Order: sequence, then C-alpha cells, then structure tokens
Amino acid sequence: MNTTQEHYDRFLGAIYSWMIGDVNIALERNRHFFRQIEIDSVPKGLAVDLGCGSGLQSIPLVELGFSVLAIDTCVGLLAELRSNTHNLPIEIIQDNLLNFAKYLNQPAQLIICMGDTLTHLESLAAVQTLIKSASQALVEEGLLVFTFRDYLSAELEKEQRFIPVRSDDSKILTCFLEYYQDFVVVYDLIYHKEGTQWKLSTSSYRKLRLDKNWLIQQIKDSKLTVVQETVEKGLVSLVIKKSKSLS
Ligand SMILES: C[S@@+](CC[C@H](N)C(=O)[O-])C[C@H]1O[C@@H](n2cnc3c(N)ncnc32)[C@H](O)[C@@H]1O
Repeated sequence: MNTTQEHYDRFLGAIYSWMIGDVNIALERNRHFFRQIEIDSVPKGLAVDLGCGSGLQSIPLVELGFSVLAIDTCVGLLAELRSNTHNLPIEIIQDNLLNFAKYLNQPAQLIICMGDTLTHLESLAAVQTLIKSASQALVEEGLLVFTFRDYLSAELEKEQRFIPVRSDDSKILTCFLEYYQDFVVVYDLIYHKEGTQWKLSTSSYRKLRLDKNWLIQQIKDSKLTVVQETVEKGLVSLVIKKSKSLS
C-alpha cells in the first residue's frame, strides 16, 4: 500500500483530470455548490483551498473575487493548476495541507477542504489538528467548508465493492474498496491500451471512515458552529462558521 502522497504522485495525479471527465461540468458543479451555500455573500478576502488538486474549487473562488492560497502535495496536479490559472490571484503551495497556516500573512475569510480530501488525512488526530488550525486562522464570522464521502454508514458489500470509475478507448479505471474498522483501503486499477495490448497498473492507499457526528463534535469543541449540513448520495457537506467574539 502507498501513502496518499505516493498514490497521487505515482498513479492518480496523472489520470485525475481524465477520471473527472468534463472539467467544465466539474467546475460548474462547484460554482453551483458555492452559490447554494451563499459564498458569494461572504466578504471577498483570502480563501484557502486545502487539497486543491487541479483547481476545481480554486478557480470558481477566484471568479467570485477571492484571492486564493491553494495547497496540495501532488506536483503533477499543481502543475495543471498553474497552467490553468495564468495571471489569476492564486498562490500555489506544494506542502502538506496541515501546514497551511505557516503560509498565511492575514486571517482567512474562507477555508475549504473539498472533494473528499478530508478522508485522505492519515488519522483522526490529524483531522482534529486541521480543525483547530482552521479555527485559529479564520477571521471572525469566517467560513470553513468540508465535503467528504461517508465510508462509514454505507458499507458496500461483496461485488458492490468493485466500482467502475471511467473508461474510454484507451483506458479503463476500476476501484475496489476493502473495509477496516477506522479506514477503507482503496485499490485503483487502470488498464492502459498499448498497441493491441491492455497493460494493468495498480496502486492502493487508505482513506478514513469519518463519522459525521464525531466530526461535528470536534468542530463544536473548537468553538465553531455548523450552519449547514447536507448528505446527498453519500457525500457529506458541512458549512461551518467562526463566531464573532463578544468583547
Ligand atoms: C480527491 S482529490 C480532491 C482535489 C480537489 N479538491 C477536487 O475536488 O478536485 C484530493 C487531493 O488532496 C491532495 N491531498 C491529500 N492529502 C493531502 C495532504 N495531507 N496535504 C496536501 N494535499 C493532500 C491530493 O494530492 C489530491 O490532490
């Protein structure tokens, strides 16, 4: 099994954008989500995109008027982000997202960790650390947004664990899930067509089985408030607000 960073650097980063399919549809989905949670009415300051990948959230945030600090470990995906965002106000950092606070020179108006990135963290302790750092880094009334997959309550069984992700004339990507108590091992299998031959490459990594109620308790313990909570087709979305101090 690989670490998450190895998995993205050696395997998934190179095919991530192909896997997503139509980038414009993915961008439009995020624009729609940001409209739904009324991000457009948030004062336009600094937004931090944790696990930004190729920029499917960073780009809509820049369009809304934010300056974006985008952080990710995957060199290939950051190169795609860089080439997609010439001259846009996006600062791109290659580092572990847990270190984001050291790159801030002002408090953040908005911090997002979307597209199931949260489950990529290595432990529940790392999730707690992230929530505490985010709470400290936000302006008063600033927002924190998480979207992640619920691998806990809906456990796939037997053949259901084989998930066809995408295929075309030259590639076939399938995912297989193996469940453990606190995490799920994700096996990605890709067939590439080389001439008349199909060549198989595989890689696996761990994702956390995050309990939404546990997460909400950690958020409350960090003096933050969940203002919107939705679960749709196994995708949990939480919009979280930092309170105004009373003094
Ligand atoms: C599922 S992708 C989501 C990317 C993007 N947010 C999107 O929705 O397309 C997860 C991303 O998080 C990054 N990532 C995972 N763990 C990370 C960590 N600890 N620090 C920085 N980046 C991380 C991966 O490299 C990958 O780009």
